[in-house]
Amino acid sequence: MDSIVVNGGGELHGTIPIAGAKNACLALMPATLLSEEPLTLTNAPRLSDIKTMTLLLQSLGAEATALQDGQVLAMSSHDINNLTADYEIVRKMRASNLVLGPLLARFGRAVVSLPGGCAIGARPMDMHISALEALGAKIDLKDGYLHAEAMGGALKGGTHELGFASVGATENFLMAATLAKGTSVLKNAAREPEIVDLAQCLRKMGAQIEGEGTSTITIEGVDRLHGATHQVVTDRIELGTYMLAPAIAGGEVECLGGRLDLVQAFVDKLEEAGIEVTETPTGLKVARRNGRVKAVDVRTEPFPGFPTDLQAQMMALLCTADGVSHLEETIFENRFMHAPELMRMGAQIEVHGGTATVTGVERLKGAPVMATDLRASVSLILAGLAAEGETVVSRVYHLDRGYEHVVRKLSGVGANIKRVKV
Ligand code: EPZ
Repeated sequence: MDSIVVNGGGELHGTIPIAGAKNACLALMPATLLSEEPLTLTNAPRLSDIKTMTLLLQSLGAEATALQDGQVLAMSSHDINNLTADYEIVRKMRASNLVLGPLLARFGRAVVSLPGGCAIGARPMDMHISALEALGAKIDLKDGYLHAEAMGGALKGGTHELGFASVGATENFLMAATLAKGTSVLKNAAREPEIVDLAQCLRKMGAQIEGEGTSTITIEGVDRLHGATHQVVTDRIELGTYMLAPAIAGGEVECLGGRLDLVQAFVDKLEEAGIEVTETPTGLKVARRNGRVKAVDVRTEPFPGFPTDLQAQMMALLCTADGVSHLEETIFENRFMHAPELMRMGAQIEVHGGTATVTGVERLKGAPVMATDLRASVSLILAGLAAEGETVVSRVYHLDRGYEHVVRKLSGVGANIKRVKV
């Protein structure tokens, strides 16, 4: 297993290119199952999760090929010959459950393994199930697999209100409804930019959708969808992650491709902490000029609120803030595993239930630490950028799931960082 070694100290200066969004791409790829014509995605990120989704689609009989060093994904679901998403693949990546809606919609049947829990929470699928049942699906759990079928052979339009604005449940409903007979309405829908990106791609494929990005999405079912080519939206979580690098280490960095509308709530908190964010013609420029950042309180919420996927990274910044910060995690039940690792570096953090209280210290000290999940792993690297001495982050396979070329991107702006095989 590889480790990443960071020696803290110098300021960061330069530009970091931001890739296409992992969480958009993981929803866009299953959309190929809705049509027998080719779907091509450009600006795709080069990540292990994308490779896992590629393997899953291939296991169903789809063609899925990565071109141009992985930045283009050419897919075709003309010859689907298997409607079962196997546990061996699904257990590695929860987003595999996004093949459920498309398979049901096009073939009237699907067998999808329950993903099982993951480090940050139990992550059940009850909301996916009730949303698809509203479209006429019958879904039973047997031997750890969801056995789904469209009653009468085809899904019918229906109205459903989500108990919580679940991103995945919204995506499964949205994709399934495109081919359901009649009108479908989803209330309390998730509003994430990845939902908007999926809707825009489905529309290019011939779907009739209105309201994406708001809490109510209306879909008119059509008989079939055709192929399309779609550019994956910028990754707002990678963007926020790299915006924190100069905020933590000092200096000035421009994140190329960054869009303020994707990270407004996060930027509001950065500015409250005393970080300067400027829109440029090519992205977002971030600078920390004067001394220590200020302590701020953060509460994670569904979009457009502060994203849970940036909570760990924000905590890394607040560990050296001037004052006491409170981070309230409202989306997942166990998303503070980075806290004990940051405490090994001298951070002062107390976790009680869903709230972490961070008392800022002058400076962290480098230490051997362990990545526990995707976003926790990168928060440890960020903390190492300004820590005194050497930080060694182990189990970086977590990192490879969601961040391409971390060492290249951070060393490109002056960080002392390398990847070592151990
Ligand atoms: C998506 O996960 C993202 N993953 C997550 O990013 C992100 O943290 C999450 O949305 C919230 O924004 C992808 O898009 C691939 P949810 P998803 O359904 O769809 C509970 C990352 O780091 N829930 O909005 O699984 C669930 O347990 C990952 O890139 C149910 O109880 O998130 C969680 O507590 C991590 N029943 C909460 O809702 C359900 O049927 C939010 O889940 C579905 C969800």
